[in-house]
Amino acid sequence: MQTNLRGRDLIGDLDFSKEEIETVLDVAFDLKRKRALGEPHPYLRDKVLAMLFFYSSTRTRGSFEAGMAQLGGHAAFIESKTTQIAHGDTPVEIGQIFGRYFDGIAIRHVDWKVGNQYIREVAQHSRAPVLNMQCDIYHPFQCLADLMTIIEKKGRDLRRKRVVVSWAYAASYQKPISVPQSLILQLPRFGMDVVLAHPPEFKLMPEILDAAHEQARKYHAGFEIISDPDGMEKAFKDADVIYAKSWGALLTTEDANEGARIIEQYKHWITDSRKMKLAKDDAVYMHPLPADRDIEVTSEVMDGPNSVVFDQAENRLHVQKAVMALTMS
Ligand code: CP
Repeated sequence: MQTNLRGRDLIGDLDFSKEEIETVLDVAFDLKRKRALGEPHPYLRDKVLAMLFFYSSTRTRGSFEAGMAQLGGHAAFIESKTTQIAHGDTPVEIGQIFGRYFDGIAIRHVDWKVGNQYIREVAQHSRAPVLNMQCDIYHPFQCLADLMTIIEKKGRDLRRKRVVVSWAYAASYQKPISVPQSLILQLPRFGMDVVLAHPPEFKLMPEILDAAHEQARKYHAGFEIISDPDGMEKAFKDADVIYAKSWGALLTTEDANEGARIIEQYKHWITDSRKMKLAKDDAVYMHPLPADRDIEVTSEVMDGPNSVVFDQAENRLHVQKAVMALTMS
């Protein structure tokens, strides 16, 4: 097992090897147990994390901030709009200066074709590790929390488990494609047979699909794509895990109005109890939240016995603490 993560960035899901992800999970389970027992675990005493947000958050901010305090350190919440970024501070200044003030820099920047590049540029100029709190391409900490949750619900041996990563209808806006992209990259490494389902206009990035196929081949897992206007029901059949959420048609159009028009064609892509019955009886329903209740998923499913959405949200805390303790100590 590889354990030397000190000083490392986590920006893309494949930045850590599979063995390194196993180390992160082991530490996360240990930290979860320590918190349950009330055992102090100040691995980052006197360390400070900068949390730079270009975009709103409930879970990410709360869990990183609480996590740093529980590790004995502090997290500084910084919104881009309250900085001098609009007046000339580039990623060079952020990396150079925050890298000297802080022991880690966490950034959320989801603007399409901008966010990932920004985070990578900061990392190039920072002496402190840089952590991706979600960009336009990846949401690695969400994916680690999801993986931890799947292990809790389905056991350590995940080979041949059918995991459906499905698009879902939501009226709100063209959401980032980072969550499904992270899932299809990471889950095949743990032997899961991943089924990606979406209407034809909601394709993911070709280079991410290629990398997901490569991971599936390497780890002898399945990776199937159902790109069909009625593909949701086909995908759900006999699934062990249903992970259904909305994302934007960003590979088809970058125009918000055109994107909204396309989304409106697929109102039937809702997760409801009828569709959940197509999956296995003990299938779990997952969503990173926020979800559009009774539009993207019915409240009956979201609040029902198969839903694990709050365990997912909790596990954000434990995996993030694990990565911070391993990279920032
Ligand atoms: N899942 C997730 O990243 O939630 P927030 O947008 O609230 O941080």
